[in-house]
Amino acid sequence: MESTAVIVTRDLTKVYGHQKAVDRLTFNIKPGEIFGFLGPNGAGKTTTLLMLLGLTEPTSGHAQVLGYEPIRDPINVKKQIGYLPENMGFYNDLNARQMLHYIAELNGLSLDIAEARINVALQEVGLSDEAEKKIGAFSRGMRQRLGIAEILIKAPKVAFLDEPTLGLDPDATNRMIELIRQISQERQMTVMLSSHLLHQAQKICHRIGIMIKGQMVAQGSMEELAQEKLGVGTEAYTLEEIYMKYFKET
Ligand SMILES: Nc1ncnc2c1ncn2[C@@H]1O[C@H](COP(=O)(O)OP(=O)(O)OP(=O)(O)O)[C@@H](O)[C@H]1O
Ligand SMILES: [Mg+2]
Repeated sequence: MESTAVIVTRDLTKVYGHQKAVDRLTFNIKPGEIFGFLGPNGAGKTTTLLMLLGLTEPTSGHAQVLGYEPIRDPINVKKQIGYLPENMGFYNDLNARQMLHYIAELNGLSLDIAEARINVALQEVGLSDEAEKKIGAFSRGMRQRLGIAEILIKAPKVAFLDEPTLGLDPDATNRMIELIRQISQERQMTVMLSSHLLHQAQKICHRIGIMIKGQMVAQGSMEELAQEKLGVGTEAYTLEEIYMKYFKET
């Protein structure tokens, strides 16, 4: 497997009963890249992320994250990655700052480092003024931002974000997308992002993978995908046009 890539898969496959949820997936994600993982409901995006996280075992094939095999070395993988799940679970009785302290403690950070990182993270996600508010009273958007703050506390090299804009209003969606771009760039953090929002993905993703029925039907930069499917050079095109071409053919 290539050593320069942060995430590598070869023929990664997950079968549930008779169903191939993920079917021989092969792709690489490079350091610092924001990789957009797109595809309809049930395409196998979350299942793929769970295999990369070492949370579910592949039926066959290989995966490497930062040089480790998630299933053989789950502790090393989990230490170095951040994960925003589809449905974030929080302790509703804690306030945001207490929650972040708890995460810092789990990750073995000293109190000094924890406090510094917590203040920076709260600032970056725009929750400084809500830090003492109980999470039970948080709106969905605030919870999503707290989820990102948790990742920042860990300061991982790689983050897996499973639909980070789910349920957010248009303005909050744009702010979340901009936040992801900013933290990825500032911290040289590789991001694998699953999303249904093509317009937003187009704005921040360096490369895109389109997954349909368990298979990666296309991967590349917007330009590469457009050239392959639309045969255009400098003309304007949208990710939606490209996506629909692949979608209709599969
Ligand atoms: N634990 C499980 N047991 C059985 N089948 C499962 C399990 N988890 C997922 N699947 C099936 O695998 C397929 C892929 O599901 P997955 O959740 O990975 O899709 P997804 O691309 O994340 O979809 P969405 O966009 O709706 O989140 C689906 O058909 C789903 O029903
Ligand atoms: Mg999913």
